[in-house]
Amino acid sequence: MKAAAVVTGASSGIGRAIAIALSEAGHKVVNWDLRAPLEADPRIPHVFCDVSSEAAVIKAAQDTHALVGDVGILINNSGLQFMAPLDEFPIEKWQQLIGVMLTGTFLCTKNLWPMMKKLNSGRVINISSVHGKLASPFKSAYVAAKHGVLGLAKVAAIEGAPFNITVNTICPGFVDTPLMRDQVKSQMELNKLSEQEVLERVFLKDQQIKKLTHPDQVAQFVLFLASDNASTITGEAFNISGGWGMGL
Ligand SMILES: NC(=O)c1ccc[n+]([C@@H]2O[C@H](COP(=O)([O-])OP(=O)(O)OC[C@H]3O[C@@H](n4cnc5c(N)ncnc54)[C@H](O)[C@@H]3O)[C@@H](O)[C@H]2O)c1
Repeated sequence: MKAAAVVTGASSGIGRAIAIALSEAGHKVVNWDLRAPLEADPRIPHVFCDVSSEAAVIKAAQDTHALVGDVGILINNSGLQFMAPLDEFPIEKWQQLIGVMLTGTFLCTKNLWPMMKKLNSGRVINISSVHGKLASPFKSAYVAAKHGVLGLAKVAAIEGAPFNITVNTICPGFVDTPLMRDQVKSQMELNKLSEQEVLERVFLKDQQIKKLTHPDQVAQFVLFLASDNASTITGEAFNISGGWGMGL
């Protein structure tokens, strides 16, 4: 039987694509998200969860166990963006971004870890960003959280190895999702540019391949990392960034 999976932030974007791909590959999949998806998918139950709250994560882990039993695959994907100059960055926004993307990754991993240890098998796959390896201005909280995820993954990879739990991270460049399109809209308004101009001059300027990645491309890479073929890959961070993160 294929391992049951939790995907955080699977009501939208990359998480949604990952949840559908895992479900179509025969895994039972549960979506942990703050909000329900716009269109419910009966194959992928939604469990309300704010991943930045330990009480909420403990409750979601219990509800999920009742639904699908022990969870062998965790995809830490929930995320959000906020941009401001460093000296104007609101502490509330700093805490929210670190809370969801770094503390949330820690809490979900911590609370599903005992199930994976019991199974003597597990896969944790984090969706960080190319901003987990490099920086852009005005993204202090996002860049700090995404760098932190890579460090946490290395520790977890060492601790997970005796239990056949692998921990890897994917670092995408720009992926065509609502989160990314919201940033395009802000840049269009801010710089009085067309959508095409914003994509060419701002978003894709550092990518060698001038194309947005599709969420399904990330999902297919997750499927590989979740498979038996990836059983000796751990502690790694893989870019899907059109060459933006090459060498890193
Ligand atoms: N889209 C990109 O270009 C891109 C690039 C690199 C990395 N990423 C990362 O990929 C991940 C998914 O991003 P996306 O583009 O699909 O965004 P998205 O906005 O489409 O989806 C993010 C999901 O996370 C959920 N979420 C937010 N706060 C939460 C919380 N406290 N608890 C639980 N769920 C919460 C949202 O409700 C939403 O469903 C994020 O971690 C993001 O940083 C995205």
